[in-house]
Amino acid sequence: MAEFWLPDVRVARKLSKDTDVLVLALVDTAAGPRIVGLPAEVDDAYKTAMGETVQQAALALGAKPELGHTVVLSAPGKLRIVVVGIEDIDDIDFSAQAATGAALRRVLGLKSRRSLRVGIAFAENYDVVTAVAEGALLGCYRYKPPADKPPIAEIRIIAPDVEDAALACDAAKIRAYGVCLARQWVNTPPNLLTPEIFAEEVAREAKARSVSFEIWDEERLEVEGFGGILAVGGGSDNPPRLVRLHYNPQPSLGLIDDAGTLSMRRTKADSTASFHLALVGKGITFDAGGLSLKSFENMSTMKYDMAGAAAVAAAVLTIADYAPNVEVTGWLALAENLPSGTAYRPSDVITMYNGVTVENANSDAEGRLVLADAISRAGEELPHLIVDIATLTGAARVALGDRTAALFSNAVTTSQLLDTAAFAAGEDVWQMPITEETKKKLESKVADLKSSGDRYGGAVTAAAFLREFVPEYTMWAHLDIAGPAFNRGEPYEHIPSDATGFGVLTLVNLALIIAAFDDDIFDGELYEADEDD
Ligand code: BES
Ligand code: ZN
Ligand code: ZN
Repeated sequence: MAEFWLPDVRVARKLSKDTDVLVLALVDTAAGPRIVGLPAEVDDAYKTAMGETVQQAALALGAKPELGHTVVLSAPGKLRIVVVGIEDIDDIDFSAQAATGAALRRVLGLKSRRSLRVGIAFAENYDVVTAVAEGALLGCYRYKPPADKPPIAEIRIIAPDVEDAALACDAAKIRAYGVCLARQWVNTPPNLLTPEIFAEEVAREAKARSVSFEIWDEERLEVEGFGGILAVGGGSDNPPRLVRLHYNPQPSLGLIDDAGTLSMRRTKADSTASFHLALVGKGITFDAGGLSLKSFENMSTMKYDMAGAAAVAAAVLTIADYAPNVEVTGWLALAENLPSGTAYRPSDVITMYNGVTVENANSDAEGRLVLADAISRAGEELPHLIVDIATLTGAARVALGDRTAALFSNAVTTSQLLDTAAFAAGEDVWQMPITEETKKKLESKVADLKSSGDRYGGAVTAAAFLREFVPEYTMWAHLDIAGPAFNRGEPYEHIPSDATGFGVLTLVNLALIIAAFDDDIFDGELYEADEDD
């Protein structure tokens, strides 16, 4: 797998003299558009040389306080200024990631003979420093590393007054690296990322961290009865795999304190987590549709059908880098769905890992079969919460478009948790119902369940099918990312074309939220607060 390149990003106390590009924000205020983060000496020098302020010049050039809108000004000396729009002054926290991503894509488009030194000067608090660093790195991601010199030599975030700015930046680097790792796997061509290779690549990353791993090959899958994964993978010469990643917090390993902020020490003496989160990802390295063959158009992007597994793997690795006090298990269900003489047929009956029999309604509905096995296996360990993530149905994309994931769950608090985590990640999710009518649709004359229903509410039926494999009394959520996992259009904000890495930050945030919440309960803080009243 090709290695991707990311620029060096750090915080600095002041703008260095050899900065080539300065990034500023234009926000909307009650008094009209206003530039944020402009160092006085830069404005003075600009005014002396050009006869107007940077703000006047930017507005004259058409700068707008619209999210991600950019203009470029040439300042005295070799300095260039990129002014990026943010809609509302109160939205800086939420918009900085997207705006900085757009700004850095603009910087990468600038012509220059040498690698650029970039300064970003509008990060005014801890959260904005994280968002800016994250957005900058995410905006710089390319599948291919630069052929000769890197386009950017360094990025410096000027944040002299922000407490713990360096920690905020370190956290952002961990997060952005995780997203780019997922993007890289998803963008890798399917002949170069078979289930076997994908499992090995993930294992390589796990070895470099405190994450243990286990890989089931086809023989072990057979012995242990993973009927769904074997059926789907049976049509390909590249055999299927199941991967288990395990992160278990260790004493004094942590980077997160009890308030959920990044620090180099743990304050809790007992670091054995009391909450176990299981993440399950669909990893179809190529989905041709099997014997229910897809059309040329629909097949063309199906290397990205492993984006759920990529998000799970990258999230577990990223969580381990943070080391919060929560146990996390990641399950990757990897197979290639191809038509052949050994492929599973529509109308075959498959015995799944948990013993439930399933009539295969359509060999292109393969994702739910590999997930059902992995969810059953994950459930055996009795985690408190199972979250699966999958490019599962075209119907989810039809319903919600290309930028929003469909969220299903079996408990209100679970969907709220996912909603909060996604919002903080800058990722859009929208909750959908699992309706009563799906029960009938999944009835089979020859097996316990049928794998799919008619063409209406396809994302809902798929979710209803998966729910059958979640153990009783286990909280569960399902994210259908068929829309937002892949950007078929032009890049926007911090999102490139092709693989987006959608889901990684939501899952990472989920673990951090659970850890912070858990610590609160077990440190007795909630109880103490009551006593004070
Ligand atoms: N991988 C596809 C879902 C998909 C479609 C993802 C388009 C992204 C874009 C999945 O395996 C699939 O083919 N699902 C079928 C299910 C149907 C046969 C019940 C679908 O959505 O058509
Ligand atoms: Zn399919
Ligand atoms: Zn698929």
